[in-house]
Amino acid sequence: MERVQDLTRIRESLTRMQYEYVRPLSSGAFGSVHLVFSVKYQQEFVVKCIQGVKCSQIENNPEIKSLLMLCHPNIVEMYDYWQEADCIFIVFEYCNGGNMHDIIVEHGALPFGSLLSYTKQIMSAIQFCHTNGISHSDIKPQNIIIDKHGRAKLADFGLSQIIQGGAISAYFHGSPLSLAPEVLKKVPYDPFKADIWSLGVTFYIMATGHAPWKASSRSDYLNQIVSGTEIYYGGVNPEYSQFLQYMMDIEPSRRHTAVDLLSFKMFEDKSLIKKTNSGGFSSHLCCGFSKKSKRLRFHSSMKSILTFG
Ligand SMILES: Nc1ncnc2c1ncn2[C@@H]1O[C@H](COP(=O)(O)OP(=O)(O)O)[C@@H](O)[C@H]1O
Ligand SMILES: [Mg+2]
Repeated sequence: MERVQDLTRIRESLTRMQYEYVRPLSSGAFGSVHLVFSVKYQQEFVVKCIQGVKCSQIENNPEIKSLLMLCHPNIVEMYDYWQEADCIFIVFEYCNGGNMHDIIVEHGALPFGSLLSYTKQIMSAIQFCHTNGISHSDIKPQNIIIDKHGRAKLADFGLSQIIQGGAISAYFHGSPLSLAPEVLKKVPYDPFKADIWSLGVTFYIMATGHAPWKASSRSDYLNQIVSGTEIYYGGVNPEYSQFLQYMMDIEPSRRHTAVDLLSFKMFEDKSLIKKTNSGGFSSHLCCGFSKKSKRLRFHSSMKSILTFG
């Protein structure tokens, strides 16, 4: 939770930049995210405040550096940024459809048409990042948000890495539950391959409504990732299941690239893919899927497995 004096300082800085404070959206390890209203543009935006930074760290902020290089319909758009004292402020478009984690906790697994559509959109965002030499390095359902048109957007580039030269990293951060086994093992790794693993975990959760491994504790869960415990794909569409297996291969060199994965036939079938840019997410979730009993069951299992992290 934001301390009162921090929030006061945030609000003062926002006022100086002509934003009216609306409400908090989220508070995380590195800072907080707020809904604001721009007096100048007469519309809502989101501001992320990263506190405790040293002077002029803004030039090295990975989120700003990466997003300056990335303009894509499925990557959250950054509009402005500034630093005041020890706080960096980053202004984004407001995506009012919520994040994928909260949607799944609320509604359970996605209907197949929506799943395919969002998968294709996020794959395309990742392909774009990788083509531009950027690894997101923190892919998980919480970092996929839905905009007012129902489009999925990849967000939170706070841990992203701009890779120059050989694609080997020794940077071991991220959300443990979605991290690739080689990153958890802390051996030098290829960050693009690690992104593909995390994306596989994320898509698995979207397809099933639960995490890939059943575990009684966080350490048990992490052990299963590292030891390569087999994943159960029962109930997942066969082609989608094959697609996931190419992503969650314990051996990084066998994992497919974003380009390979986008060439899967299922992405070409227009009759399967649900249009998500015409009416938003909630409208198509309402069409026939979320029975209350199922929703509650998924709700409790998701809560228990995804709150380890
Ligand atoms: N542009 C945005 N529009 C709407 N909600 C957002 C936006 N950016 C972030 N959020 C919400 O805030 C949460 C945290 O934002 P994020 O950038 O992931 O920061 P953190 O570093 O705290 O994880 C997201 O999971 C999402 O729910
Ligand atoms: Mg995040």
